Amino acid sequence: MKKLWLFLSVSITVLMLNACTLGVNSSEDSITIFSERHYDTDQMLFDLFTEQTGIEVNVIDGNADQLINRLENEGEDTSADVLIIADAGRLHRAKSRDLLQPVESDTLFNNIPSNYRDADNYWFGLTKRARVLVYHPDRVDASELSTYEALTDTQFEGRIVTRTSTNIYNQSLMASFIEIMGEEAAKNFATGLVNNFARTPSGNDRDQAKAVVQGIADIAIMNTYYIGRMMNSSDSFEQEVADTVEVFFPNQETTGTHVNISAAGVTKHASNLEGAIQFIEFLSGEEAQSSFANANFEYPVNEAVEVHELLSSWGEFKAQDINLSVLGENSYQATIIMDEVGWE
Ligand SMILES: [Fe+2]
Repeated sequence: MKKLWLFLSVSITVLMLNACTLGVNSSEDSITIFSERHYDTDQMLFDLFTEQTGIEVNVIDGNADQLINRLENEGEDTSADVLIIADAGRLHRAKSRDLLQPVESDTLFNNIPSNYRDADNYWFGLTKRARVLVYHPDRVDASELSTYEALTDTQFEGRIVTRTSTNIYNQSLMASFIEIMGEEAAKNFATGLVNNFARTPSGNDRDQAKAVVQGIADIAIMNTYYIGRMMNSSDSFEQEVADTVEVFFPNQETTGTHVNISAAGVTKHASNLEGAIQFIEFLSGEEAQSSFANANFEYPVNEAVEVHELLSSWGEFKAQDINLSVLGENSYQATIIMDEVGWE
């Protein structure tokens, strides 16, 4: 009986060792990323990373909710080492569902300003965008514009468009206001804004700029990078829209313009932890940052890196001075307020 036990336990140990060795070998020279991004230039960057480190990069793309749900369903068996998502609110969702792990990295701490990474180091911003006012210069003079809050004035009645409240960009915008001005003032803003809508919210950010050019509205609230994307679109109307509208950064004399980020986190069950950290460090570095940001006409988070010429043509701007973790923390309250004021 003792001999059988010994035989069994030795066999099991050998099997386990084999499994471990296999696991280590297969994961040490590759990483898998779940990514919401899909730009051709990203692949060139990943190839460069492979060239420098010998680590292959497998990319599985999908939208944020699909990727987060998949990560949750796969649990310990997930192939994902890194999650890349285009909104701080959703990264927070992944963190609060226990799908990410904290990372201590001086490289990341040095490359990324502290307000653009999670307060507990679960995710790290890589590129940022501003949520600005886009207006038609024939119908609006820049001198009429000042702050988000001023859009609630009666002079803007029936002149403003933005997308629905189900969209995370607007939820994050409201979450930032809850942080900066408090719930009551944020609710007053939302009430006043809804009163001044030119139409019931519909469409994506590009559709808001289109509505401005079509004369449906005079001012749209939308993300900066869509201007760059429409400028380089194969659709001639989108090009016309991008050429026609002007960009205004609100709250420059007060609390700053709302910014949001694309960010990456290491998954809780990453099989190649070191490779995953190295990969995010690489993306935050000077070599990768301009290509990674320019692919989507965004601002690099690494302040040592120059911004795209289209973005620099709009001039520098002051951003809200908040840690973007709050966008996730306040997002539920934001949706409640938007619902209460009838922001569809
Ligand atoms: Fe977007």
